[in-house]
Amino acid sequence: MALNRALIFLGPPGAGKGTQSKLVAQGCGLPHLSTGDMFREAIARETPLGKKVQPILARGELVPDDLVMGMVEERVSQLDCAHGFIFDGFPRTLPQAHALDELLESKGFGKPLVIEFCVSPEKLFSRLAGRWTCPVCGAIYNEFDAPPKASGVCDREGAKLVQRPDDRPEVVRERLAAYERQTKPLVEYYRRHGVLQVVDAGKSVEEVSRALNAILHCAEGTDGRL
Ligand code: AP5
Repeated sequence: MALNRALIFLGPPGAGKGTQSKLVAQGCGLPHLSTGDMFREAIARETPLGKKVQPILARGELVPDDLVMGMVEERVSQLDCAHGFIFDGFPRTLPQAHALDELLESKGFGKPLVIEFCVSPEKLFSRLAGRWTCPVCGAIYNEFDAPPKASGVCDREGAKLVQRPDDRPEVVRERLAAYERQTKPLVEYYRRHGVLQVVDAGKSVEEVSRALNAILHCAEGTDGRL
């Protein structure tokens, strides 16, 4: 698929941005840029950035814009980003969105295509607070609607399942509040710029994927310069 532009998956924590980004990245060959994954990797490697952001992620708050922008600018300068990329979890504030506009212009890209993922707050909470992952094979379970056969143990590997530190219920509440406070205004920002499409992300992974593909096929070849 020749998109040749930036795709932005915008939506609250647990909306399925990461799940769908991976599928689209496989399908259209664009790199999947998740700022959350980048921070978690920096934390795991104990880099200076990782040490700075670890307590911020643990509280469910947003990382300051300057730290986010430095990391994003470095990443989109890499060769694999020459023909576009998928942002998952970025931008998350209006200053980040403005800085991204400038960055895209400086790299010769047209307007981004922004897809808003809409899901009810109850679903978001249960997707996140119920999420447990196998540290060996990466399988994802949900203790409410897709539990493992034996509680807390991976069906395939027999390994003890782990929870993302920020999926603890009290942190999930703060992440959802941070979205409402700081990220939700971006919906209106991108709507005014005429680049926003909306998907009902409360449906199954397959249904959401079909809806997204339909949007992307319509956008194919337009590269944001209509
Ligand atoms: P980040 O990693 O971006 O996390 P998030 O967006 O808060 O939440 P998720 O990644 O959990 O949600 P998602 O929408 O990707 O859903 P997923 O596909 O995983 O950010 C983490 C932290 O980093 C932030 O809190 C902040 O501190 C910091 N940060 C990152 N970017 C930043 C930025 N730009 N500025 C400032 N700070 C930043 O799915 C969730 C669950 O639901 C999974 O279990 C999945 O299997 C399941 N699921 C997915 N789709 C469906 C479906 N259709 N039906 C049923 N279940 C589904």
